[in-house]
Amino acid sequence: MARGLVKRFDETLAVDGVDITARRGSITGILGPNGAGKTTTLRMLLGIIDPDEGNRSVLGHADPKDVARLIGYLPEERGLYPAMKAIEAIAFMGALRGLPLAEGRRRGRELLEQYGLEHAAERQIRKLSKGMAQIVQLLGTLVHEPQLVVFDEPFSGLDAINQGKLEVLIRSLADRGVTVIFSTHVIAHAERLCESIAIIAGGKVPFAGRVDEARDRIPAQVRLETSDSDGPWRAALPEATRRVGQFWYFPLPETGIEPLLRALIDGEAGIQSLSIERAGLHDAFVAIAGEAAAADMVTTPEREDA
Ligand SMILES: Nc1ncnc2c1ncn2[C@@H]1O[C@H](COP(=O)(O)OP(=O)(O)O)[C@@H](O)[C@H]1O
Ligand SMILES: [Mg+2]
Repeated sequence: MARGLVKRFDETLAVDGVDITARRGSITGILGPNGAGKTTTLRMLLGIIDPDEGNRSVLGHADPKDVARLIGYLPEERGLYPAMKAIEAIAFMGALRGLPLAEGRRRGRELLEQYGLEHAAERQIRKLSKGMAQIVQLLGTLVHEPQLVVFDEPFSGLDAINQGKLEVLIRSLADRGVTVIFSTHVIAHAERLCESIAIIAGGKVPFAGRVDEARDRIPAQVRLETSDSDGPWRAALPEATRRVGQFWYFPLPETGIEPLLRALIDGEAGIQSLSIERAGLHDAFVAIAGEAAAADMVTTPEREDA
């Protein structure tokens, strides 16, 4: 979808060779701290700005503007006309993407209803909470039934309930075959929603691929509980093993768990419990992008004022 995108602003190299691929009907997250280059990358994908180098292909077109009517976009800077009613704002956004106003109002009502916001349809934007206005704007990006939606930090500014509802909405879009790309600095949203992610830090993408593959960059952790605290079987535990109470913690050996289990059983270690836990996306992010980039990220969704 994008190959080797580069963008400079005067002295700043905002994006330095970014590749992004999003399968149709999948959810892709652009994950990175503030200033990483997420917004600049999304703007290039959408054709709002042109890259200095690299090329794009959006829904099969080299110039994203050719397919503008098939794209929905929620920019990071939100804004609707404060005096407009919610339903008119949605219909207006649809009209900008080629949808007749009357049809936009009809679908807008459906969308508001699906989201549980039918009571807001006739209210002016200025009378809605910031979070509600943001949802109205987001529904406005969907009213013309785009094939690709691009949301820049869609979760920020929403309270926990609306963050949850937005996750459900994003999943339902993908279930209907819509390709979703969103940026976030909150790892949990990407971990729960995305099939693929691009980790972006300092304008570069140190990882792009499946969330699974990112997590597999770090070996799974084993927690073993034994009734015996010592014995020759201990030689079978990896060097990096830590002992906490009756538990042993160590990274899953590359040979897998079975040879180790055999040694423990033969050595009569007295296995009480054993669990293998895969790394979460946060730890993978730290390993891939480094501590400095991770320090600016949020692991679990923040509670933001709606
Ligand atoms: N229009 C612009 N003019 C100059 N610098 C910009 C502009 N847009 C972004 N930048 C710079 O490019 C870098 C990446 O910004 P951005 O893409 O907004 O990051 P993110 O969305 O990940 O926070 C930052 O250093 C930012 O200051
Ligand atoms: Mg941004």
